[in-house]
Amino acid sequence: MSGHESTYTPKTGFEKWLDSRLPIVRLAHDSFVDFPTPKNLNYWYTFGGILAICLAIQIITGIVLAMHYTATVDEAFASVERIMRDVPYGWLLRYVHAVGASMFFLAVYVHMFRGLYYGSYKAPREVLWLLGCVIFLLMMATAFLGYMLPWGQMSLHGANVIIGLFGAIPLIGEGLQTWLMGGPSIGNQTLQRFFSLHYLLPFMIAGVVILHIWALHVPGNNNPTGVEVKDVEKDTVPFHPYYTVKDGFAIVLFLIIFAAFVFYAPNVLGHADNYIEANPLVTPAHIVPEWYLLPFYAILRAITFDIGPISAKLLGVIFMFGSIAVLFALPWLDTSKVKSMRYRPVAKQFFFGFVAAALLLGWCGASNPDDPIIPLGDDKRD
Ligand code: HEM
Repeated sequence: MSGHESTYTPKTGFEKWLDSRLPIVRLAHDSFVDFPTPKNLNYWYTFGGILAICLAIQIITGIVLAMHYTATVDEAFASVERIMRDVPYGWLLRYVHAVGASMFFLAVYVHMFRGLYYGSYKAPREVLWLLGCVIFLLMMATAFLGYMLPWGQMSLHGANVIIGLFGAIPLIGEGLQTWLMGGPSIGNQTLQRFFSLHYLLPFMIAGVVILHIWALHVPGNNNPTGVEVKDVEKDTVPFHPYYTVKDGFAIVLFLIIFAAFVFYAPNVLGHADNYIEANPLVTPAHIVPEWYLLPFYAILRAITFDIGPISAKLLGVIFMFGSIAVLFALPWLDTSKVKSMRYRPVAKQFFFGFVAAALLLGWCGASNPDDPIIPLGDDKRD
């Protein structure tokens, strides 16, 4: 909370020496040890800490995977198979990284819906929310770039669909598409630049996370009541040990679920076609992204008619980006003075409607768009 007095007292000579030159231990102490935190935070508030762990896991496993990965179209697929079979514990590294992406998105969705429910995007936390939205965009970009790297069928054809979206932009679309691919089609140059950017973006995410936590520590946490802390003495407890223990417990539970996927169902969230090497001459019957991008994919495909000069494809792109852009505008769209939906019965109904719509869109995104039609005309029905 801004304005809260530092309680750090350096003890040893070295601590005093460092504190007067670079008060980094003081910063850590005031941010994560003695930080006044509302007493009433529930388990939905542990997901920020869980997300920090997810980011660390993705960066560490990613760096080691990159030591064994080859970013060329001739060798990428085989290098991933080599990681799985020959590199000591390579299978574990890869499964932790791949399942980790899903767990990261699961956690970020919980974290965002929590923010929506308790009105944490409202003043004085608008910048905190905006920085969160930037992180979310960077996460989506990173996941998309990473999915291309194993050079499986879904990698290639999924990337084709997404890069193809840019082609819908009037005038500059085609040029932009060629520029992104680094040539007339997806090839070696595309794979190499995707690898380079996939390595870079997580560090950008880490940078924005530091700003995110800074922006959190200026007003301090919101809480499930949505009523701001008035009396720091009575309404808050120090972050350590109260929330280090609570967050720690939640992190352990989360890691147990994570491990269950890694060890018992590492491929259940992925698509089998990505174990077939990329072949530009064979397009998979159903091109689908990973589960966490399905709602956006559904919006992209939802518009099937042109409106005036705007093509259906461009409209899909506009609506898809619009569904993300609206998050950025949210702090100014919601003008209610009450923050938490606990005390906003109508908004609460809309909130749960929104959750249901997101899940339904995810289901639509995974479904074959022909399904209702083709079985009707299928010879084998009866
Ligand atoms: C790598 C991703 C992220 C990390 C590591 C992260 C980290 C954190 C942490 C540690 C907290 C404090 C504890 C908590 O409230 O859970 C927090 C709070 C918050 N985060 Fe994030 N965050 C991430 C992504 C996001 C995203 C994508 C959004 C929204 C678009 C967001 C919005 C918020 C908001 C509004 C709060 C304040 C909640 C409140 O005080 O009620 N964060 N974040």
